[in-house]
This record gives sequence, C-alpha cells and structure tokens, in this order.
Amino acid sequence: MATKLLLTFAICRLIATVGLTLDPTELLRLGVDGQLTVDSSDVDTASLDFGLMSRAEPLAVLHPASAEDVVRLVQAAYGSAQGFTVSARGHGHSINGQAQTTNGVVIEMSGGSRGGVWLSPAGKVDSPRVSEKLGYVDVWGGELWIDVLKTTLQYGVAPKSWTDYLYLSVGGTLSNAGISGQAFNHGPQISNVHELDVVTGKGELLTCSEAQNSELFHAVLGGLGQFGIITRARIALEPAPQRVRWIRVLYSNFSAFTRDQEYLISLHGQPAHQKFDYVEGSVIVDEGFINNWRSSFFSPRNPVKISSLGADGGVLYCLEITKNYDESSIDTIDQEVEALLKKLDFIPASVFTTDLPYVDFLDRVHKAELKLRSKGLWDVPHPWLNLFVPKSRIADFDKGVFKGILGNKTSGPILIYPMNKNKWDDRTSVVTPEGDVFYLVALLRSALDTGDETKSLEYLTNQNRQILRFCDEAGIGVKQYLPHYTTQQEWVDHYGDKWGLFNQRKMEFDPRRILATGQRIFKPSSSFKPASW
Ligand SMILES: Cc1cc2nc3c(=O)[nH]c(=O)nc-3n(C[C@H](O)[C@H](O)[C@H](O)COP(=O)(O)OP(=O)(O)OC[C@H]3O[C@@H](n4cnc5c(N)ncnc54)[C@H](O)[C@@H]3O)c2cc1C
Ligand SMILES: *[C@@H]1O[C@H](CO)[C@@H](O)[C@H](O)[C@H]1NC(C)=O
Ligand SMILES: *[C@@H]1O[C@H](CO)[C@@H](O)[C@H](O)[C@H]1NC(C)=O
Repeated sequence: MATKLLLTFAICRLIATVGLTLDPTELLRLGVDGQLTVDSSDVDTASLDFGLMSRAEPLAVLHPASAEDVVRLVQAAYGSAQGFTVSARGHGHSINGQAQTTNGVVIEMSGGSRGGVWLSPAGKVDSPRVSEKLGYVDVWGGELWIDVLKTTLQYGVAPKSWTDYLYLSVGGTLSNAGISGQAFNHGPQISNVHELDVVTGKGELLTCSEAQNSELFHAVLGGLGQFGIITRARIALEPAPQRVRWIRVLYSNFSAFTRDQEYLISLHGQPAHQKFDYVEGSVIVDEGFINNWRSSFFSPRNPVKISSLGADGGVLYCLEITKNYDESSIDTIDQEVEALLKKLDFIPASVFTTDLPYVDFLDRVHKAELKLRSKGLWDVPHPWLNLFVPKSRIADFDKGVFKGILGNKTSGPILIYPMNKNKWDDRTSVVTPEGDVFYLVALLRSALDTGDETKSLEYLTNQNRQILRFCDEAGIGVKQYLPHYTTQQEWVDHYGDKWGLFNQRKMEFDPRRILATGQRIFKPSSSFKPASW
C-alpha cells in the first residue's frame, strides 16, 4: 500500500518535471517488490557522490529487492513512448557524477540511506553463496567488497584481487577494473570474474561468461555501466592467508625506484614464496611529517624527513610491499622477505615493517576514513585524477609532474605502481596504454577551504588540467582510469581503436542509450532529452 502511494508521487513528479505523456499506470504496473521512492533524503543521496563536485537530481530512486525489480524498471524505461534514463548506483564513490542522472531513476544497488555497512536488498537476494570446492562466490551486484570479504573469510577463502578501499560495490568496481597492489599478479578484479547476471538496456536479464553471451560479458567488464546493470557476479577465490608482513622502503632516486618496482612485478610467474603478494608505491612531495591517510606507516611515531634523506629534487618515493603467510609458512617468512629485499636498491636505513591480520591489511583504508571523518575531512570535494602511464614515459612524467607541476604541496596521497598488461583481457571494455607494463598514477587529493590557496578546489582542478595538458603536449600517451570527459570526441579519443566496438556494443545492448548517462558518453535517444544534455 505504502509502496503504491509513493509510486503515485513518483509518477506525478515524473510527469510534472518532464511533461511526460507517460500513463501513470505504466509505472504502477511495475509492481516492484522493493521500494520506488521520491523521499527527499533518498533523492539527495542519489544526487551526490564522493567527489562532491557535481550534483544531479533523479526523479525517483529505486531500492530493488531483486534482479526482477531491476528488470521491471529498465523494461518500463525502454518500452515507454517517452522513455526515461536509469542509472545503477553502487556506493556512490565516483568523483564526477558517473552514477547520477537527471530526468530518470537511480537504482540504489548497495542500499539506501541506511548508513554504515549496507547489506543486500532485504529478503529476496541471498547473501553471498560460497562454493569452497569450486573456488568462487556469487554475490549481489550491489554488495560491498567488505561484506564479500567478511563472508568468504568464514569459509577460509577470499577473493584474489582487490581495491585499496573495500566500501565500494562489486558492480561499481567491475564497471571500471578494480585495481590494487595484487593486480600485477592476479590482474584487475575484472580478470577474476567467472560469470555475471546482467540486465541490459532492453530490460533482458542475461547470464554471461566466456562461454555464454560472451560479447555482453566482455562489454560489461570495465564498461562504465553502459551496457547493462550487473545484478550478480561470480568471483574467483583463493585460500585466505592469515597474516600479512607489510613493508615499506624509501628511495630518492626515481629510476632506482621504478626499476625495483618493475623487477618485483616481473616475478608474477614465480612460485608464491619467491615473489611479494602486493606491490604499490607512493610519491612524497610534502616536506616534513607526512600526512598520508592511506597508510599507518606515516604516524607521529614514525616521521619521515625528506631533507634528511637527501631527496633529489625534494621528492621521495615509497615502495610498499606485502607478503602473506599463515602457520605453514611462519618459519620461512623472514627468510623469504629478506631474500627479496636483498635484490632491491632502496635507502638502507628506510625500512619499516609491520605485521597484521589479513583482514586488517585489506581494510586498512577504512581506519584512515574513520580518522578523517572524525575531523570533518572526509566529506569534502575530491578532485581526484587517476592515470595509466606507459612504462616507457614514466620518467618523463616524474620530471614534468612530481618534480615539476606539483610544486611541494600535494593535498593528499599520490600512488604510483606498475602492472603487467598480460593480466588484462583486451576483449573487455577497459583501455590501457601501449606497452607490456603501465603504471597507475593516482592523485587522491582533497580540497579544503582553509584560506590556503594551494588547498582550494580551484587550484587543484587547475593543476589537474595542467597535468593533462602536459601529458598531451609531451605525447606521453596516458589513459585516464575512472575516466571523466565532457564531450563525445574526448571519449572517441580515449577509446581509440576500441571506439568502434564500444559504440557497436552500445547499439546492441542499450539501443535507447538510457543507462548510466552520468558518464556522458552517449546522449539518450532523441525521443527524450534529459536536462543534463
Ligand atoms: C576512498 C576510495 C578509494 C578507492 N580506491 C580504489 C582502488 O584502490 N582501486 C580502484 O580500482 N578503484 C578505487 N576507487 C574507485 C572506485 O573503484 C570507483 O569509485 C567505482 O566507481 C566504485 O564505486 P561505487 O561502487 O561506489 O560505484 P558508483 O560510483 O556508484 O558507480 C560507478 C559507475 O558504475 C555504474 N554502476 C554502479 N553499479 C553498477 C552495477 N551493479 N552494474 C552496472 N553498472 C554499475 C554507475 O552507474 C556508475 O557509472 C576508490 C574510490 C574511493 C572513493
Ligand atoms: C639512480 O639509479 C640509477 C639506476 O639504479 C643509476 O643508474 C643512477 O646512477 C642513480 N642516480 C643517482 C644520482 O644516484
Ligand atoms: C616549497 O616550499 C617552500 C617553503 O617550505 C617555499 O618557500 C618554496 O617556494 C616551495 N617551492 C615550490 C616549488 O613550490
């Protein structure tokens, strides 16, 4: 009953706002088991994201109770005379409004404004189904990775490939790639999925994999939500390690730093005891105590003085590596780490080691989140820029950006680590740079209104533009990760050779171009034009 009333409101709003000639009973006939709402707190939540830089209000929000609800809504959008847009929203951790839509409906895949750890939509959807023997878990597309981890750990298993932060949705990271320090070894998260259930832009619920509907499977992986809504994912598992040895070492010499990182990722084919399990790194530009929210390495107890380490050009580089272990390897872990470290050329006095349970390592960023939240420093604008830089030009990038454009203020962590391209599947929608190895460079900055001009949103946004212009003019051949463009020509350039395929897949799977319009890749078909276009 309550659902019916809310639906009527939603429909009135749809009609009032876009002047749709849509018959209200059309949406009423949807009969979703979840909740379709125009409640202002739901609409507000769906209008914003982690970036806090763009805002777009949907007409209504759907909290689905099952994949069938998603089907009913997309079918209504696809089949109606006027049509409306539909955007799946995971945890809303995009930067530039990618999960938002105006004149359409946002599907809250990871729950509503319930806060905290959001569970699968009530009732209908099973909690993760773990198959220990087969080495995979089936999860709802809106499930957060933290919940996937907690559930699988109860069975002594865990996914292989991660993101640094776990309060992200499975569907959201699979729509991009999902990367962290394990990617050199296991590939990105999109290389660790066996099967998906997807609701296409025509409202068809299809199971897809390498063997079945493979075109849809590859399209959706890294597909930026353009081809369908992921309602279920089957994720590869491995036996979960118990503990993690976590080590960081520092470099002042960039070429020594990248040589060592590239050496460590070249060991991907070696037996487990002869390689690290995780390889990342970061750039330290700020003088003095390093306020790096990503890592407990840099605490007042453990200060790093750039000047005392003879940094070349005022910049230091931090290599971060881990080795997993459990009872069976507890006697050899020290030797294994020692043997690997011996091959590296870092500043000898700079080694810092810590040891912690596997789950605490994987969930490390959440600790920092809680700290920042308590100081009011989490819900601030995040003009983040993520780039894939080819190995052949990473030294030019260092000179031009880390030792150039950035000056000596960074306003947040800057990550840098290489990945092996042979762990990425070229049939997916994701694009990577030329060459067998490329780096992620992630400038994860927060804008603050403190009166310090270098911390302002305008300053950081301009600096991002300057960095992109530098890369363009120097012909560095970067590709944006979590890409953001505002014109279709920029998207065509981004996809390069892949644009034809991307476009063809769009025509096949979302011919009315109603899905994930917040990415601003395709305009919805001409029978209706959301205001954002
Ligand atoms: C603190 C923080 C740390 C991060 N760390 C990493 C990291 O280490 N590695 C990394 O790779 N990324 C990282 N990210 C980026 C993250 O992967 C992206 O924000 C991604 O979009 C996932 O977030 P989300 O689940 O909230 O998706 P949303 O922002 O809600 O959605 C992103 C896009 O995917 C679409 N989408 C969402 N759900 C679905 C679905 N079920 N089916 C189809 N399309 C869908 C949306 O329409 C939208 O276009 C980080 C982000 C933050 C804020
Ligand atoms: C930096 O490291 C590279 C590679 O190890 C080496 O060839 C070079 O001499 C080093 N530069 C300095 C200034 O130490
Ligand atoms: C770096 O910081 C110092 C103050 O610590 C300042 O005087 C100097 O101009 C800065 N350099 C750059 C390149 O921004």
